[in-house]
Amino acid sequence: MATAGKVIKCQAAVAWEPNKPLVMEKIEVAPPQANEIRIKVVATGVCHTDLYHLFEGKHKAGFPCVMGHEGAGIVESVGSGVTNFKPGDKVIPLFVSQCGQCRFCKSPKTNQCEKGWASDRYAAMSELDTRFTCKGKKILQFMGTSTFSEYTVVNEIAVAKIHPSAPLNKVCLLGCGIATGYGAAINTAKVEPGSTCAVFGLGAVGLAAVMGCKNAGAKRIIAVDINPDKYEKAKVFGATEFVNPKDHEKPISQVLHEMTDGGVDFSLECVGNVAVMRSALESCVKGWGVSVLVGWTDLDDFSARPIQLIAGRTWKGSLFGGFKSKDSVPQLVNDYLQKKVKLDEFITHNMTLAQVNSAIDLMKTGGCIRTILSVSPE
Ligand SMILES: NC(=O)c1ccc[n+]([C@@H]2O[C@H](COP(=O)([O-])OP(=O)(O)OC[C@H]3O[C@@H](n4cnc5c(N)ncnc54)[C@H](O)[C@@H]3O)[C@@H](O)[C@H]2O)c1
Ligand SMILES: [Zn+2]
Ligand SMILES: [Zn+2]
Repeated sequence: MATAGKVIKCQAAVAWEPNKPLVMEKIEVAPPQANEIRIKVVATGVCHTDLYHLFEGKHKAGFPCVMGHEGAGIVESVGSGVTNFKPGDKVIPLFVSQCGQCRFCKSPKTNQCEKGWASDRYAAMSELDTRFTCKGKKILQFMGTSTFSEYTVVNEIAVAKIHPSAPLNKVCLLGCGIATGYGAAINTAKVEPGSTCAVFGLGAVGLAAVMGCKNAGAKRIIAVDINPDKYEKAKVFGATEFVNPKDHEKPISQVLHEMTDGGVDFSLECVGNVAVMRSALESCVKGWGVSVLVGWTDLDDFSARPIQLIAGRTWKGSLFGGFKSKDSVPQLVNDYLQKKVKLDEFITHNMTLAQVNSAIDLMKTGGCIRTILSVSPE
């Protein structure tokens, strides 16, 4: 390994400030320190959370940074104390860590490890500690991962080793969007066979939720989106009906109540809009309906009438689909290799890292499900 122990100079897409296009720059990536792994990123998806931090969120701390958190790559070198990874291993960096030691890791009830980048500062979305510099300035690491770079450095508690035959330009999607939506349905909502579900928002996260509902045995899966171009894709993942809130004068929750004799058993919000979160809750049947928040926002508080919950509905949220990341991502990769979960069908565009701004524009205009950026040759 000619590069081990040395600073690597490589290309990365740097977000110098909010609301501006990313800029391709040559950055320096320091060698991994104790318990860290330097990864050659091969491919990355673009997720709405990248756009959110760049354009939509109100917290503007965390710049300049290298964004991207849905990647896959190959271990280039490891820091001292790392024994479970070696150069050449195929890996997926994880924005939710799994240290295995903290009380959250020890509980089967949650995936909220307290050792990760996010434990106390979701607001800034970037790690203060970073191995990146550019033009003499410290460049922060977005969500502890930073996959819009040819190389990145991640703590070993936030890296999953995956099957050596996994195609990195597909399984990168398991680093965020697909694991998130799929797990929200199977782990958080715990969708039951024969049930009726509604999924709000048909981006990759929502479509993965549709796939989770289908794999869990749901009988009816009602796909809700204001963009009717998404319906054809939703069928591929198992949606049985489609509703465009714009086609109705009535509130969407009333439309769903009428379609389902009083409301759906499970609803999943995959948009990131507090009004939609409320609609998703109100679309559930009283007595046992469960509504899961998956979409991300910190712009507004949400509200609802207490009677919604008093009448027996449950309102929950899901981070990374509730999956314990290091344990579950390799398993999800195997499930893809055994054709138990779909990934290829989410990919509508393939581009290079240098085209990242075009990929971001495509997502803004609803023109893609997922764009995969090739970052380094495998
Ligand atoms: N909880 C987590 O761990 C986690 C992880 C990844 C992403 N997210 C969040 O999930 C959300 C979806 O991400 P994505 O990458 O699929 O985004 P996306 O932009 O590809 O998809 C969003 C979809 O919502 C639809 N939509 C917008 N307004 C709507 C409305 N009022 N009613 C119905 N549909 C509407 C859009 O047309 C689009 O199809 C984002 O908020 C993202 O930040 C959360
Ligand atoms: Zn994401
Ligand atoms: Zn932990």
